[in-house]
Amino acid sequence: MTTPPALHIERDPETGLALRGSLGDLAWEVAADGTACHPDGRPLTREELVILGDSIDPVAGRPASEIAAGEIDLGVGATWMRPDREELLATLRRDLPVSRHHGIPFLTGAPPTDWWAVTRLDDIRHVSRHPELFASGRGGTNIPDLIPAVAEFLGSIINMDEPRHTKLRRLISAGFTPRQVARLEDAVRARAAAIVDRLAEGTSCDVVADIAAPLPLQVICDMMGIPETDEQQMFEWSNVILGFGDPEYVTSMNDLIAAGYGLYQYGLELAHERARSPRDDIATALVDAEVDGERLTPEELGSFFVLLVVAGNETTRTAISHGLLALSNHPDQRDAWRADPEGLGASATEEIVRWATPVLHFRRTATADTELGGQAIAEGDKVVMLYLAANRDEAHFDDPDRFDITRSPNDHVAFGAGGPHFCLGANLARREIRVLFEELLPRLPDITVTGDPERLRSAFVNGIKRMPASYTPA
Ligand code: HEM
Repeated sequence: MTTPPALHIERDPETGLALRGSLGDLAWEVAADGTACHPDGRPLTREELVILGDSIDPVAGRPASEIAAGEIDLGVGATWMRPDREELLATLRRDLPVSRHHGIPFLTGAPPTDWWAVTRLDDIRHVSRHPELFASGRGGTNIPDLIPAVAEFLGSIINMDEPRHTKLRRLISAGFTPRQVARLEDAVRARAAAIVDRLAEGTSCDVVADIAAPLPLQVICDMMGIPETDEQQMFEWSNVILGFGDPEYVTSMNDLIAAGYGLYQYGLELAHERARSPRDDIATALVDAEVDGERLTPEELGSFFVLLVVAGNETTRTAISHGLLALSNHPDQRDAWRADPEGLGASATEEIVRWATPVLHFRRTATADTELGGQAIAEGDKVVMLYLAANRDEAHFDDPDRFDITRSPNDHVAFGAGGPHFCLGANLARREIRVLFEELLPRLPDITVTGDPERLRSAFVNGIKRMPASYTPA
């Protein structure tokens, strides 16, 4: 890994807003009008702002309440790291529901690109449910286009359109039959109980490393029949792929390619291995699956393996981490869930997923000139569905900024807003989250987060890297 330039940010202790900082040699501070400038008062150029991309936003010193929709720049990473980010999204939802942005947050150095940010739930549903107008296979589903070097192994079904997507998804669904998922359920409970057993030996932990990360990782490995000795390697590869943009995990495209290729190779070998000696696991079910006489090639299985490990890991981890933070901030709801696990389990899990919105966005590309929320969209435009904004849409959720484990209805879009790509692992993720809290709450009833969560620097995953908690085992 190359060494990233040192990043320093000094924040106002009360508001959390940036005051001054530097990235390598480039220093900046916030002027009296709230805009960012050089320490000598000269304005920062657009190029400098792009270089600083993930560390500064052009209106760093002004609170969200004073920023107009037209000034909000989602093309720089720092906007995504603001403590009042959700207020900014609310401003966009109200005043500029489909807004134009330039740049790629957290991909400093990548050629900037123009894209539309969609913030209202109805518009996002429209995009998600009209794949003929908003495609996944034209450059991929993240803001930057998928480059050929990574398309081979990051190019699984999530970046495809019909008819290929339909066919491969049907094949892959063979691994997610009720029988396969039911088999996993016992394993999920046993794994969750073992995690809590270990915690109960002490009185404090890191929520992410000790609670949220292990369960989804172990479940994916159980699914695919991956030995425990390889779990740490899976963990590191998936951290790099979804941590792209956070200098703690990855600083160059080469790091990303190495991790993606490592995972892909592992999946490829697994496919060959299961073809030679079948087992009773999902990897074998995927190797054997057949639709219209066609099977997944080892290469397709390899890239699906990358998608599965990446999609199933960090997302569920993020939901559990945010869930625990929210329950810790609302001890009355934590206690209510513990008192009635049967009655509240399903709605509490759904609210955690809405609240956390682990995947912040997916992109589509317009296949024809069209209109969205009153905005003209041209063929070839990138249209980005901001799930976090939709999940706080006051037109759909009563008091959307309230965490409420009894919320009903709760028609959130954290697993996608409908259409052909709806999350294949949604039921498994729900199961993992619910079972984990069912095991945890009775045994660590007063678990409380004791420090600020350290957030992943990303506009794609709403990740938490570390978060301390303490408890008294019951
Ligand atoms: C809380 C946890 C999770 C969240 C928030 C989440 C979210 C999402 C989202 C937003 C999509 C795209 C939906 C769309 O474009 O319409 C997706 C797709 C997908 N997810 Fe999940 N996911 C989670 C857990 C999982 C798990 C546990 C697995 C597998 C074990 C998984 C496997 C997949 C796959 C394979 C796709 C691609 C489906 C396709 O393109 O047809 N996800 N997920």
